[in-house]
Amino acid sequence: MRTPLLAGNWKMYKTTGEARELIEALLHGLGDVSDREVLVCPPFTALQTVGALLAGTPVKLGAQDAYTETQGAYTGAISPLMLRDLGCTYVIAGHSERRAIFGEDDALINRKVRAALAHGLLPIMCVGETKPQRDAGQAETIVVAQVRAGLAGMTPEQIGQIVIAYEPVWAIGTGDTATPDDAQAMHATIRRTLAELAGTDVAATVRIQYGGSVKPDNVDELMAQPDIDGALVGGASLKADSFLRIVHFH
Ligand code: PGA
Repeated sequence: MRTPLLAGNWKMYKTTGEARELIEALLHGLGDVSDREVLVCPPFTALQTVGALLAGTPVKLGAQDAYTETQGAYTGAISPLMLRDLGCTYVIAGHSERRAIFGEDDALINRKVRAALAHGLLPIMCVGETKPQRDAGQAETIVVAQVRAGLAGMTPEQIGQIVIAYEPVWAIGTGDTATPDDAQAMHATIRRTLAELAGTDVAATVRIQYGGSVKPDNVDELMAQPDIDGALVGGASLKADSFLRIVHFH
């Protein structure tokens, strides 16, 4: 019912030449992906190069962030309209690095999600607790609050178009993954929250990705969980062989 979404978040890696090499290797080994969705989110500077290589393939193009406005005097910002223009279909919103390093809060992320939807981009909204929050037993409270604030004021129709990525901050880039049981428990909590916001029918269709040190050797057990509908992959998406193994999870 929910098509798994395997997404590579390249972060601030890959020049255009390196991006080209990676995409060529990915496409070479891609094989049959008819029962899943594959997405790459290169840095802005490689979107055009990657988009041209992906044309006519099943791999989709996404961006890692977009500002809230369509155009204007916003030095350094990129608008959802510009991303659509380059062939993007997805955009990440509220990644924990945007929250922690660039000071983004739930209110801004809410505006970014809305702006993306308004321009026909599918947002992947990231949520997740820090290590101190988990140790203090606050993980669920924090994540539920992030989901509620990020989606505040949206209609069930809007919520139905959004992908949520649960990415515990302590698991990102650390090699320290949530156990499949812990991840499943949080995904179920997120789905209950979505049901409260948008009804059970919509909640049943929303894809909830897990992110945080997803690797070839842990993807299968994560994807076996009933409420894990895909992966948002950082480090392991930077090499074709590891990303392909994740894409082809069993
Ligand atoms: P990681 O990053 O796979 O390198 O932990 C995931 C992410 O930040 O989206």
